[in-house]
Amino acid sequence: MKKQKTVLDIQNMYANGDKITMLTAYDYPFARLMDQEGIDIILVGDSVGCVVAGYDNTLPVTMDEIVYHTKAVARGSESAFIVADMPFLSYQIDLRDACVNAGRLIKEAGAHAVKLEGGVNMVNTIKAIVNMDIPVVGHIGLTPQSIHRMGGYKVQGRRDEQAQQLLADAKAVEQAGAFALVLEGIPADLAQQITEAISIPTIGIGAGVNCSGQVLVIHDILGLCEKYSPKFVKVYADLAPVIREGIKNYIEEVRSEKFPTDDHSFH
Ligand code: KIV
Repeated sequence: MKKQKTVLDIQNMYANGDKITMLTAYDYPFARLMDQEGIDIILVGDSVGCVVAGYDNTLPVTMDEIVYHTKAVARGSESAFIVADMPFLSYQIDLRDACVNAGRLIKEAGAHAVKLEGGVNMVNTIKAIVNMDIPVVGHIGLTPQSIHRMGGYKVQGRRDEQAQQLLADAKAVEQAGAFALVLEGIPADLAQQITEAISIPTIGIGAGVNCSGQVLVIHDILGLCEKYSPKFVKVYADLAPVIREGIKNYIEEVRSEKFPTDDHSFH
């Protein structure tokens, strides 16, 4: 039986200067594989809406969907620390909603922490959830739930006043009690500046190498998002052609009666 990673393990890694590894997963088989390979944190991201459900953005994802996917991930994972995303409108309307929904992700779904998007504007929400002893991961920069405000998925913090705002956001999220902070889609030197200015780990995605750790979407690193691949993604295994080949061979063998053979039949 492997040891379950906790928030203390993540804090110790940060204190020791060890890079924190995080990947998204939305189901049992992927959670199991990455857990067995030693991933530190599994994020049940609302990116599930795009890479699994085929939506154009994360806004339609519901609490019930995140609960469903987090339960599957929790069943597949023995040691990884599991963070569940709070979907759009599950925490923005009022503090009571935010607390009830964060509680569901822990109590019903089996997450160990929740993640929510926003900086200074989310201080009271983060405080309320942390007050319930639920660890919170913040998320600033390119925040996909703000796609309509940002006018698309654009790198944030390029202009000086934007960069100053992001620095203030990071400090506010830390002071509100978050134990880690995702930095998405910001210039690498700003990510470094933020990482040096706060005392909680930063997990970067499209934020350069000088963060305390990195996160990517599993479907992106496995080459399964053929429609669109952002600049910050590295494909570590190009699975789409392998999967296509398997499916093509199956169709061909069924049609030509090469499958099933005697070996695949009962007598
Ligand atoms: O939903 C998600 O996958 C995320 C990561 C991109 C950080 O929030």
